[in-house]
Amino acid sequence: DEGLARDLYQLMEEAARHYQTQLRQHADKQKVDEYLALRGLSKEVVEDFGIGFAPDGWDGLLGRYRTNPDAQDKLLTGGMLIENDGGKRYDRFRDRLMFPIRDRRGRVIGFGGRVLGDGTPKYLNSPETPIFHKGQELYGLYELKQKHRDPERVMIVEGYMDVVALAQFGIDYAVASLGTSTTAEQFQLLLRSAKEVICCYDGDKAGYEAAWRAMETALPLLKPGDKVTFLFLPQGEDPDSQVRKEGKEAFEMRIDNALPLADYLFDTLSQKYGTDKGNLAKQAIALIEKIKDTVLANLLLENLAHKLGMNSSEDLRKKLGLTSMSTGAKAMAKKGLKGRGTPLRLA
Ligand code: UTP
Ligand code: MN
Ligand code: MN
Ligand code: MN
Ligand code: MN
Repeated sequence: DEGLARDLYQLMEEAARHYQTQLRQHADKQKVDEYLALRGLSKEVVEDFGIGFAPDGWDGLLGRYRTNPDAQDKLLTGGMLIENDGGKRYDRFRDRLMFPIRDRRGRVIGFGGRVLGDGTPKYLNSPETPIFHKGQELYGLYELKQKHRDPERVMIVEGYMDVVALAQFGIDYAVASLGTSTTAEQFQLLLRSAKEVICCYDGDKAGYEAAWRAMETALPLLKPGDKVTFLFLPQGEDPDSQVRKEGKEAFEMRIDNALPLADYLFDTLSQKYGTDKGNLAKQAIALIEKIKDTVLANLLLENLAHKLGMNSSEDLRKKLGLTSMSTGAKAMAKKGLKGRGTPLRLA
């Protein structure tokens, strides 16, 4: 209910302030300062993103609400406290660097907490709560909109550190999905936020898989004119490490040269299926089928036909009967021949 939500926003804001104060004043502040120095984070960017410190201890946050059981209940609901089997409550976030997650209106709705070193889990995140639905939020979107009301481009990256490091280097239009893969809701939000969406996941196996999943997630949402590109970083790098290595200009050159979605799709399939053109067409069509916009789907189909050395999608359509198409593609090809308003008119 609305009263609860309002109280949760209030308490989350208080928690963010608490962690910011601890970062400046706590007796253990030296170890967090050392970690910030190790990661190369400037005072300005720490301030811009409201980064804080949750000191070690069971009741750093809880202790502020000793005489307020109602607030304690709400902190539990908000995911800031954990209750054990014996009913004892304690702070969820301990001995971590704290990244407040804000919604589009700037309200703190959750946190990501990074261990100051090598412990596990590396990041501890707020659980789903009445005000935090992580598949629907993008870390850094509020901060981006503070700098650019109407951004030209927005870049989606994996992590908090990537967003913050890029911003520190002047690439202040990156946001992070709060989990392994970018959801359809997040993609919709990205497409509404800017004309151009750049996907830049880590240069590792998980990152390559995330890119492919992102492409599949984006397809149904795309309209003609949408610009979605993929930036692949050198092996072992992520946006944070790469921008620190080469600086803003070189990184922005990579952004400018990022691979358009259609090229990424076809290039990847070509590498995978090589000379097996039948299979290549089948796989490509299975992906093109996901596109809801008929105009765009036909454009990609035309594109595919040319890549396969045919003159038009008409030729490709004729070829369809010869290759082992998915039943979906066959059905669509048939409907296309009848000239009905199908999601993908091949003729
Ligand atoms: P990464 O493993 O790529 O971490 O996870 P990172 O962002 O590069 O972090 P640093 O540079 O080592 O500090 C990417 C994102 O996946 C989520 C976090 O959102 C993280 O930013 N993640 C990762 C977790 O939620 N928990 C984890 O234990 C690890
Ligand atoms: Mn800018
Ligand atoms: Mn990663
Ligand atoms: Mn990293
Ligand atoms: Mn990373």
